[in-house]
Amino acid sequence: MIKYLVDVSKKKVQIDKNIYGHFSEHLGRCIYEGLFVGEDSKIPNKDGMRIDVMDALKAIKIPVLRWPGGCFADEYHWKDGIGPKENRKKMINTHWGGGVEDNSFGTHEFLHLCELIGCEPYINGNLGSGTVQEMSEWVEYMNFDGLSPMAKLREENGRKEPWNIKYFGIGNENWGCGGNMRPEYYSDLYRQFATYVRNYGDNKIYKIACGPSDGNYNWTKVLMENAAPMMDALTLHYYTIPGDSWNEKGSATMFDEKAYYKTLEKTLKMDEFLTQHSAIMDKLDPKKKVAIIVDEWGTWYDVETGSNPGYLYQQNTMRDALVAGINLNIFNKHADRVKMANIAQMVNVLQAVILTEGDKMILTPTYHVFEMYSDHQNNDLVESYMMPTTVGVDDIQVSNLVESASVNSEGSVIITICNLDLTCSKEVDVLLEGITCKLLSGEIITNCMDAHNTFESPEVVKKMNFEDMIITEDGFKTTLPPCSITKIIVKGK
Ligand code: AHR
Repeated sequence: MIKYLVDVSKKKVQIDKNIYGHFSEHLGRCIYEGLFVGEDSKIPNKDGMRIDVMDALKAIKIPVLRWPGGCFADEYHWKDGIGPKENRKKMINTHWGGGVEDNSFGTHEFLHLCELIGCEPYINGNLGSGTVQEMSEWVEYMNFDGLSPMAKLREENGRKEPWNIKYFGIGNENWGCGGNMRPEYYSDLYRQFATYVRNYGDNKIYKIACGPSDGNYNWTKVLMENAAPMMDALTLHYYTIPGDSWNEKGSATMFDEKAYYKTLEKTLKMDEFLTQHSAIMDKLDPKKKVAIIVDEWGTWYDVETGSNPGYLYQQNTMRDALVAGINLNIFNKHADRVKMANIAQMVNVLQAVILTEGDKMILTPTYHVFEMYSDHQNNDLVESYMMPTTVGVDDIQVSNLVESASVNSEGSVIITICNLDLTCSKEVDVLLEGITCKLLSGEIITNCMDAHNTFESPEVVKKMNFEDMIITEDGFKTTLPPCSITKIIVKGK
């Protein structure tokens, strides 16, 4: 029996709802087909946006959506994507699969999509191949209310009111696809570009600098030393790749137990990266004015057989659900510094929550994790602690349980626990401090490690009610099945 302490009297920090954010890039079938099919499509749509997909996204309370990339962002010229569609420039999406990008989905369409889903937009500007003027004018186009060339252009294109967008990224992966820069050079460019990303009216832009990937601590240090006062946040990118190299990442659906545990071991590295990057930031920014935004995370496997290698289309199993559950618990625990995270990517690309094929749509196991965890949004993180044992194969050993707990505005406690063990259920004795348990309810997703939903069998992995809990004198006892993600809601007396 594992003892688990949840102390509701020790509230730590608010879990920013934006930790449950998403990312959509002009890559493969994410935007086109996945989100946007055009007004003339036979697939039911609202102004060209798929209604089935939008309804599913609304149900998981997406707080924020990043666009247009990724690597695409530093090749994107926003003026190509505004105005009458027949006049929009066509380009080759050289970075992702070489398809034709007809720019029919641009600024107006993206911001309209966000309005329809009810989420905040997070726009990523082009520092790698764009100009300061181009970036500055994009912000003016979206946010200026009054007489100006860009506000006039916006009105000519059918939108009088500014959108007042808040989140703006200044470059993406500028150490790689965004220009192969050194941190010294990037931080100077960041300062220059950020100067001209203007605030209009009462709207204050939240400026996001391109941060490191994985354990590139020097990037964080140099960027913080050179540009911290001009930043609201820096980004961190970390993907879970089970294989040993980019050429052999491994299959999304055909894997053995060793690959399963290796995937989770690599996922748990997120905690180490956040801890180390935060420690560097703590030295230079003890008041935590600069946040970390993990705006790309998730699994990255070999593409599905027969699909375009540049489209990054992959299936999604229970293993991915655990990767999502573990990462989201880690982000909750780092909520003092992590103020946003965006899974890559929303539809049909990498660790997607939704897959589409023509007019069909399925929800992946990862979708159900986001659905369950949405109850943490904007809650207060509370102190929680357990001493799990380890499980694995040979030298690959991971904690068998990974958890986080929060309290909502009504005083109910939300606990999410992943049981990583493939064979053993886990008995847990939950000791509650600061609340006397009156009512328990729960939800779970559990199945074998490679279980997944297909267009033929869309409900192999789905959310179910969880009732295996008994109230005790100081909390409750529960038994968590192997390979599972469970949410328990505790209502107090
Ligand atoms: O999400 C796919 C790609 O991964 C993004 O375009 C890039 O930023 C990262 O390397």
